[in-house]
Amino acid sequence: MEQNNEQQPADATLRDLPDAEYEQIRAMIYDLCRLSFDKDKKPLVQYRLGKRLRDLGFSSYRQYLKFVKEQDGGEELTILINALTTNLTYFFREPDHYDFLTETVFKPYAAGPRDARLRLWSAGCASGEEAYTVAMVMNESIPDLDRRDALILATDVSTRVLDIARRGDYPLERFKDTPAELRDKYFEPADQGGRARFRALPALTRLVRFRHLNLMDKWPMSNPMDVILCRNVMIYFDKATQQELVNRFYDALKPGGFLIVGHSETLTGVKHRFEHFRKTIHKKSE
Ligand SMILES: C[S@@+](CC[C@H](N)C(=O)[O-])C[C@H]1O[C@@H](n2cnc3c(N)ncnc32)[C@H](O)[C@@H]1O
Repeated sequence: MEQNNEQQPADATLRDLPDAEYEQIRAMIYDLCRLSFDKDKKPLVQYRLGKRLRDLGFSSYRQYLKFVKEQDGGEELTILINALTTNLTYFFREPDHYDFLTETVFKPYAAGPRDARLRLWSAGCASGEEAYTVAMVMNESIPDLDRRDALILATDVSTRVLDIARRGDYPLERFKDTPAELRDKYFEPADQGGRARFRALPALTRLVRFRHLNLMDKWPMSNPMDVILCRNVMIYFDKATQQELVNRFYDALKPGGFLIVGHSETLTGVKHRFEHFRKTIHKKSE
């Protein structure tokens, strides 16, 4: 996975995460978010939490775990989740999915009745690039979009990345696969300290609602979805969790709706009710 080249902490006292404490952290993060950390992920966890321990002035993981458990309100749990989730993303990642949305979802919607509702959900949206890419493509494909009831819900368990998503302000690197004319149409320059940055304009931000949501909790949405994108999220879950989630996604979709997963993901080995539409795209029966 993307994060394996991270280094271990420099501080000698935090270099060793004892197995017993690693097991406790693994169990905690699995219970909270069902993220599965194998034994070989210990150096990664050590690296990510080592920084936090140093900031708090703790010299051992045992002290830190005591602090996490004693804390009222679970604020440190939120910080722990923020530290241990992998949030890599960028605009126009896996672009064939956006071509699919244009041809199979947005153009037919644009040709249909103006009072129809359209709902898409970016589940595990990280810092928002996926949701804003959907918004760009939607705006390009539906000429009278501002007079229609079309919205994108974007959720994540990490409050850290949701803050970035809500600010909508990104470094140039995140646009490496974005056509320059789209970047310049939907973002304004927001350079900082001599580094090129771009901020999303209201034409995009008005189409997206960012919300904090752990996919393992009860979902508050009352209206069924037309499309759910859950890309590069389920790779971090075990098969039993994937199966549970895929079936909940099925129930959350309208008949004829679509579930889109990441290019490296497959529903093989997962019992589900979807029709195979094309690779990584699954359809709920009409
Ligand atoms: C690698 S990012 C994927 C971003 C985007 N979907 C993409 O494909 O570029 C995975 C995201 O899933 C989120 N995630 C992991 N477990 C989650 C859970 N239980 N509930 C909600 N989001 C979760 C992480 O916080 C992270 O931001």
